Amino acid sequence: MSHPVRIAPSILSADFAKLGEEVRAIDAAGADWIHIDVMDGHFVPNITIGPAVVKALRPHTDKPFDVHLMISPVDAYLDAFAEAGADTITVHPEAGPHVHRSIQHIKSLGKRAGVVLNPATPAKMLDYLIDMVDLVLVMSVNPGFGGQHFLDSQLRKIAAIRRMIDATGRAIDLEVDGGIDATTARAAIDAGADALVAGTATFRGGPDCYAANIAGLRG
Ligand code: DX5
Ligand code: ZN
Repeated sequence: MSHPVRIAPSILSADFAKLGEEVRAIDAAGADWIHIDVMDGHFVPNITIGPAVVKALRPHTDKPFDVHLMISPVDAYLDAFAEAGADTITVHPEAGPHVHRSIQHIKSLGKRAGVVLNPATPAKMLDYLIDMVDLVLVMSVNPGFGGQHFLDSQLRKIAAIRRMIDATGRAIDLEVDGGIDATTARAAIDAGADALVAGTATFRGGPDCYAANIAGLRG
């Protein structure tokens, strides 16, 4: 019961000097969701953007904001990202002591909640979370930077999670993030993914290429 694949360009690879324009361009080019990578220089070795930037971008598109939080602690910032205009908020289980509580909190804010699994985090981590999440995000690179190589080891995990999701009978999105290009997109979709994050592959070549770049990932 997977959906047609949704493409979520990561604005981490956009021109940060004109983010509003870039978001409008990927919207027009066919992006399904806007993937926003939030990094704190602590949970991951890079620093990106905070809720003020999310809020500033909100008027530039009606497409859902898929906000990937790579920050620790995370709970203290959930309200701010919800208020800034996030539609889906995803959290890493390693980012706080109580991931179940984090998911409960995101749901209480009326937002879609997702859990993110790092490359070394097993699918089994989902056993007692899957019934409460709207989305599972599988990291196919170690989080922190765009432009890394897709880890083939994650295909087996994607397939395992596809089986877990189908067994619930619920419409849970299965998204994959990191090193997605036309080839790895095909592999991820074949393994069961129905949403793909793509930074480098979306923004390569500049705005005139965005529509073709996005279309090329749909498989
Ligand atoms: C990595 C981020 C990704 C990243 C993907 O920590 O979560 O969303 O921007 O970039 P590419 O598509 O270039 O691997
Ligand atoms: Zn991401």
